[in-house]
Order: sequence, then structure tokens, then C-alpha cells
Amino acid sequence: MRDMLERGTMSDQLLTISGLSAGTEDKPILHDISLSVGAGETHVLMGPNGAGKSTLGHVIMGDPIYQVSSGSITFDGADVTELGPDKRSLAGIFLSYQAPVEVPGVPLYSFLRTICQMRPELKTTARKFRTRVGEIAEQLDINQNFLTRELNVGFSGGEKKKIEMMQLLLLRPKLAILDETDSGLDVDALSIVSRGIEAYRQECDGALLMITHNTRILERLTVDRTHVMVRGNLVAEGPASLIDDIDAHGFARFEEALAQKAEA
Ligand SMILES: Nc1ncnc2c1ncn2[C@@H]1O[C@H](COP(=O)(O)OP(=O)(O)OP(=O)(O)O)[C@@H](O)[C@H]1O
Ligand SMILES: [Mg+2]
Repeated sequence: MRDMLERGTMSDQLLTISGLSAGTEDKPILHDISLSVGAGETHVLMGPNGAGKSTLGHVIMGDPIYQVSSGSITFDGADVTELGPDKRSLAGIFLSYQAPVEVPGVPLYSFLRTICQMRPELKTTARKFRTRVGEIAEQLDINQNFLTRELNVGFSGGEKKKIEMMQLLLLRPKLAILDETDSGLDVDALSIVSRGIEAYRQECDGALLMITHNTRILERLTVDRTHVMVRGNLVAEGPASLIDDIDAHGFARFEEALAQKAEA
């Protein structure tokens, strides 16, 4: 296939996934995935509904729902395949969920303060933290009233996405996996969230793995690599222009190539 490349062979990468197969206890979902993301790079993961994109995001984060049956995940020089999600988060991996969870009883502000204080490099005084949260809230057009509300409880879809952006800008992870952060956002919110992602890229020099069906969220970003997943397989990798190709022609050619490979 035109865009097919050797993957996952470079050692100076921030994230290296090698020959990873994973799924739930009774259902294999991801098959022999190899993918590398360099520090500060922006990668896009595309593929039809049900391809396994969110599953890959969750497996990189260490979601215990999924089991790795073979392969490895190396992050920032360490093998994290066996680590829990809390350790991976502290190591600098961030996952924005397609459907963020509600946490009753925990006010947003306390949650943000706690997750920052857990990280030695982010520990700061209460006053400096309050100022920083205020700046980010303004940048993302988030009303200060949200800070006293319970985490995600009763938040609208768009509000949840903005709060995740706030976490991203506060935590400054080395790698952010954003799973359909654009879905369900109105046009103004989309532009605010896009600016938040751009700020993360520039201020934190963080790497991005964007899972999306919508190219508008990518307009402000320089995409380094695009990966295509079909039925749990990475079937192609290419430059940013691959996104336009998919927009124009869909996934049919990738589905066909995979079917032919299976027959061969
Ligand atoms: N916890 C689970 N239990 C059972 N099946 C699962 C589980 N998680 C994922 N799957 C299945 O694995 C496949 C891949 O799902 P996944 O959510 O990763 O797809 P996706 O590429 O993110 O799709 P979309 O574009 O619709 O978000 C689907 O068939 C899904 O039903
Ligand atoms: Mg998904």
C-alpha cells in the first residue's frame, strides 16, 4: 500500500508500541499494532466506527478492562505495559475520554488541585494554583462557577470537553491522547477547544495522538503522521495529506486491502 511504512523500529521515540495485541477477556480487538510517536509530534488516528481506536487509547492508558495478550508499550524510555493507569498518568500520559465519567461528591477545583499536587513538578502554592486555574478558565471560556460543581456531574457534553482541556493545560503531560474531543462541540466551543490544544502543543511542547472523524479540529495543528486503523489492524501510515485522501475517498481501499491480506 502506498503509505505503508516500517513502523515502531526507532528507539528515540516518546511512545513505542510494538506488536501489540489486546482485547477484553473473551474478545480480541487489537491485532499486532506497532506505532511510534516522537516527543512533541502530532499524530492522527483515523478509522471507521468500531475499528478499535478508542480501545487503543485505553490500552495505552492502561485501562484494566483490556488485557494485552502480546507486544509491549514503551513510554519515555520505560516499559509501561504492566503499569496501572495511575502510574502511566504520573509518567506523563493523558487520555481524554470519548465519554468522560461523572464523579459525584468531588468538586472540580479540588479534583484539579489534587491531581496537580500529586506531581512533584507541578506542586505549587494554593494562590499560584488559583491564578493559573483562573487564567485557563478564561482562555477556555469556562465560567468560574463550574469550579465548585461536582466533577462532570450534569455537565453538558461540550462543558465536559472543555474541562478536559483545562486538565490538559494544567497537567502538561508529555503525551495527550484526545479521543473525539471535537464530537458534539458547537462551532464556538470547537474553536476554543482547538485553541486549547494549540496552546498545549506550543506552551507544553507535548505530543498528541488525535483520534477523530472530523478534520476541522486539526486545522490549527501541524500533523506529522496519520495512522489508519481497520478492524483492529493498523493498515496504513502516512503524512498529513492522507487525511484529505480519507476525507475524499473514505476507508474502502483500506478495508479491501485488509480483506485481500486476510485471504492471501
Ligand atoms: N469493553 C468492551 N467490551 C466488549 N467489546 C468492546 C469493549 N470495548 C470495545 N469493544 C468492541 O471493540 C470494537 C472497537 O471499539 P472501539 O470503541 O475501540 O472503536 P472505535 O474505533 O473507537 O469506534 P468509534 O469511531 O465508533 O468511536 C467494537 O466492536 C467494540 O464494540
Ligand atoms: Mg471511539
